Amino acid sequence: MRPLVAGNWKMNGLRSGEAELRAVIAGAVTGCDLMVCPPATLLVSFAAIAKGSSVVIGAQDCHGERDGAHTGDISAEMIADAGAGAVIVGHSERRADHQESDADVKAKASAAARAGLIAILCIGETKEERQAGATIARIGRQLDGSLPDRLDDARLVIAYEPVWAIGTGLTPTTKDVAEVHAFIRERLVALDPKAGASMRILYGGSVKPANAKELMAVMNVNGALVGGASLKAADFLGIAAAYS
Ligand code: PGA
Repeated sequence: MRPLVAGNWKMNGLRSGEAELRAVIAGAVTGCDLMVCPPATLLVSFAAIAKGSSVVIGAQDCHGERDGAHTGDISAEMIADAGAGAVIVGHSERRADHQESDADVKAKASAAARAGLIAILCIGETKEERQAGATIARIGRQLDGSLPDRLDDARLVIAYEPVWAIGTGLTPTTKDVAEVHAFIRERLVALDPKAGASMRILYGGSVKPANAKELMAVMNVNGALVGGASLKAADFLGIAAAYS
């Protein structure tokens, strides 16, 4: 399966950030798919710049419904209409800042499928859950509650992002990453043997050029979801180089 390295710019990036996108496109490696998820304000211009290149543009969130009275939200259909091809759903910052439940995330993932977008569905345990030995139970509950009813291996990607590893410089051991990814794979295969075996499972949380090779070599790690290090093309491409 072809790995995916996706950059989540979060609430960073002005129109001047186009230069970084152009540098990513120019430096795209052939060994993996690349995705850049800028803030919603940049979706249209980034999609226009990336058109015809191998870099997919994604949004960072969507609403579950097609349209309606939801001030400030954008729908999956709007994201597709902007020219983007993907959306991140259930990021832990959305779950925490906007009290998104697993049911909300399931609705968003289903909306992405409805609009023909790739969904990157994020799950991950907190520090307290990890310390209490509750990581696997938490991941299982998140999968049960937030996976859409139909697994589409071409359009659904799971991102395992331990909350305590995001933006902290901390990463789990490769053994811990392997354990969680194996568990996710097992669950997906149990739900759908064919799609579950070929769905990509990304690792996210403090991925940098310096640790990418080690993390990406872990069994069942099929790419990375990158926050801070995706803001500079050189760092982002340095991570993708793990697949060169
Ligand atoms: P980070 O963020 O790479 O800055 O830790 C990852 C993410 O939140 O997707």
